[in-house]
Amino acid sequence: MPKVTINDTEIEVEKGTTILKAAAQAGYEVPHFCYHPALSIPANCRMCLVEVEGAPDLEPACYSEVSDGMVVKTKSQRVVKAQKAVLEFILLNHPVDCAICDQAGECKLQDYYVAYDAQESRLRAEKNQKVKAFPIGPDVIYDGERCILCTRCIRFCDEITGTNELRLVQRGDSAEIRTFPGKELDNDYSVCTVDICPVGALTQRDFRFKCRVWLLKSTDSICTGCANGCNIHLDHFRNEIQRYKPRYNPEVNDWWMCDEGRLTYKQVHEDRLLHPTSNGVRVNWHGVTETAADKLGDAVADDGADSFGFVISPQASCEDLYLAKQFVEQTLQVDNLYLGGKPDGYEDDFLIKADKNPNRQGVAAVFGGLDQFDDFDQLIDDIESGEITSLYMMETDVPADDETRERFVEAVDQLDLFVLQSMHNGPFAEKAHLALPACSHAESEGTFVNVNGISQPFEKAFEPHGDSLPHWQIFMRFAAAMDTPFSYTFIHQIQDQMFQATEADEPEDVTQTPAE
Ligand code: SF4
Ligand code: SF4
Ligand code: FES
Repeated sequence: MPKVTINDTEIEVEKGTTILKAAAQAGYEVPHFCYHPALSIPANCRMCLVEVEGAPDLEPACYSEVSDGMVVKTKSQRVVKAQKAVLEFILLNHPVDCAICDQAGECKLQDYYVAYDAQESRLRAEKNQKVKAFPIGPDVIYDGERCILCTRCIRFCDEITGTNELRLVQRGDSAEIRTFPGKELDNDYSVCTVDICPVGALTQRDFRFKCRVWLLKSTDSICTGCANGCNIHLDHFRNEIQRYKPRYNPEVNDWWMCDEGRLTYKQVHEDRLLHPTSNGVRVNWHGVTETAADKLGDAVADDGADSFGFVISPQASCEDLYLAKQFVEQTLQVDNLYLGGKPDGYEDDFLIKADKNPNRQGVAAVFGGLDQFDDFDQLIDDIESGEITSLYMMETDVPADDETRERFVEAVDQLDLFVLQSMHNGPFAEKAHLALPACSHAESEGTFVNVNGISQPFEKAFEPHGDSLPHWQIFMRFAAAMDTPFSYTFIHQIQDQMFQATEADEPEDVTQTPAE
């Protein structure tokens, strides 16, 4: 393994390591724009120039590999002068409109200017004007004046999605990013170009002018759009999610997420069921707990456990499911289980999975398989035939087309007791004898198991909307009111027992993010 000295720090690195990566290993930042760890290396921005002892010219650290005995300086006078020159060149025609730029606060150009340049512009002539606020695709807006021509966006479309929409057109200070004539930047992952654009040249239509980034709080979470479970930063402000951004995990989604999943945050705030209701009348948790305990106890006692159905949701976390299982088996002692959740949809051969539920594998791990669940059509048949007269349902998503869903909405009228425990309002909540508001994944912590069996924790971002509670806490309340109390107080107690008792693996630490 070659030994290399970087600013007086000697380290040993793998053969083939670039100077930029070796410097990062030794604890030194080498500023860079065009280099991104997931893309090819064009070495076109020259921001990463370093001095290599014995070499006549400065070398691009992103491209040059270390050799044994190499001595590198990342902060010498020559390097500092080159960094200032590169930044001055990039900023020559830049509008410096940081005050109205969405990237301000997370912009590499802004950060590097402060750290490596910090000199006044010497330009006295008028700046070049280029295209502003150009809709380069349905979800992405391009600003030619802010673009530093690093080509990250072009390489993303060529190398990651293979859709090749973008090209560099014109030359010199007229150069800009464009799509081919008649084309748009319109692939399933197009907003990833916004994530990797180091400046504010590409912005996401949905997030533009919504919130200054320094006001955002960021919570590590998981996208609930499909069973891939892409790791995300859930960025929020005053109890409202402002955007999802992909979080690096080489086992699951690398640096990326799909455009559709990115917008699923809206479901957290749309049409929420905010308060418990009993026959449509708002009640408090104390009142509804007593009512539920009476009604559930009567339903099982009067009609028998065979007439009681329970719908489990693959949208819920493993912790919720683990207590649902105990509630079903120990408190209600019923065994007619049905599986809810969203119906299958589009999939591709990259990240997007046909299963639009984040935790089907979690259901299998907690319940020891999926064989004991009847499907949703069977549930409707069982209600219509009068075999099921009482139903407890988690969440409102049903794996059915619109027609079958309508059939279910009508069938619900036949039930003697319908208890719904859900995030969302809608026709089911309106018909429920008891409607119980449950938290979204943003308002509680928990674990999802993705399509490949990887257990992934998510954190609580903000306090629950309205009176909603995590599913597991609702089961705890009802179990206690029905004289079968569970012995948990905190979620980690559930997790400790759950990971021992089920097939769900305990989540592992996510790999550290390499410098972008
Ligand atoms: S739009 Fe952004 S990512 Fe694309 S070349 Fe310009 S600065 Fe680079
Ligand atoms: S691929 Fe699935 S999990 Fe990943 S961002 Fe898209 S919808 Fe979300
Ligand atoms: S030339 Fe190295 S990061 Fe651009």
